[in-house]
Amino acid sequence: MKNLVLLISGRGSNLQSILQAAREQGWMESVRGVISNRADAGGLDVARTFGVPTQIVAHTDFASREAFDQALGDAIAALHPDVIALCGFMRVLGAAFVARFAGRLVNIHPSLLPAFTGLHTHARALEEGVKWHGVTVHLVSSALDHGPILAQAVVPVLDDDTPQTLAARALLEEHRIYPPVVRALLEGRVRTDGLRTRILPASEHLL
Ligand code: GRF
Repeated sequence: MKNLVLLISGRGSNLQSILQAAREQGWMESVRGVISNRADAGGLDVARTFGVPTQIVAHTDFASREAFDQALGDAIAALHPDVIALCGFMRVLGAAFVARFAGRLVNIHPSLLPAFTGLHTHARALEEGVKWHGVTVHLVSSALDHGPILAQAVVPVLDDDTPQTLAARALLEEHRIYPPVVRALLEGRVRTDGLRTRILPASEHLL
């Protein structure tokens, strides 16, 4: 089993789903730590509940984006991660940071990429009148929200939806699809070919 580090900025419901899966499936020993860029992130309490070490690297303590990325990267590197899972981590990471951890960064985004990159995805989906919306787990590349897609799930958009009701429906799918992808990355079962990817079933990955 390899090492996992999780990055958060907020309430940490995806963090919780991953830690719950890790506990239930017996891979908690991979979880090296949770790092937040905000001292008030609710996810820090989630991590503590699971007995996972936490650290805060506050972006507000640094004069530049580069200095923050360097400090965050050093804190992550000290934990020797093979996989770094962004769980609602709300800072854009610079190209140097992404290059430093190339292939090891995974993110969950609340839309069916490549539609609705960036922020306010649920409100924008409603504005555009789409009938289906969803969530995406992807590897992080230097192009924002455009890395290789590892998993997606769709949800219907209902006539009376608000951004909040749509977000709540999509979030359930986030919690369902993110943990198995993180586990597959830890187990070396992910294959990429440009933007195309495939996740091998658990029994097939050993040569
Ligand atoms: C999720 O909707 C995720 O897709 C987005 O930020 C939100 C984080 O929620 N990147 P949580 O902190 O995991 O509850």
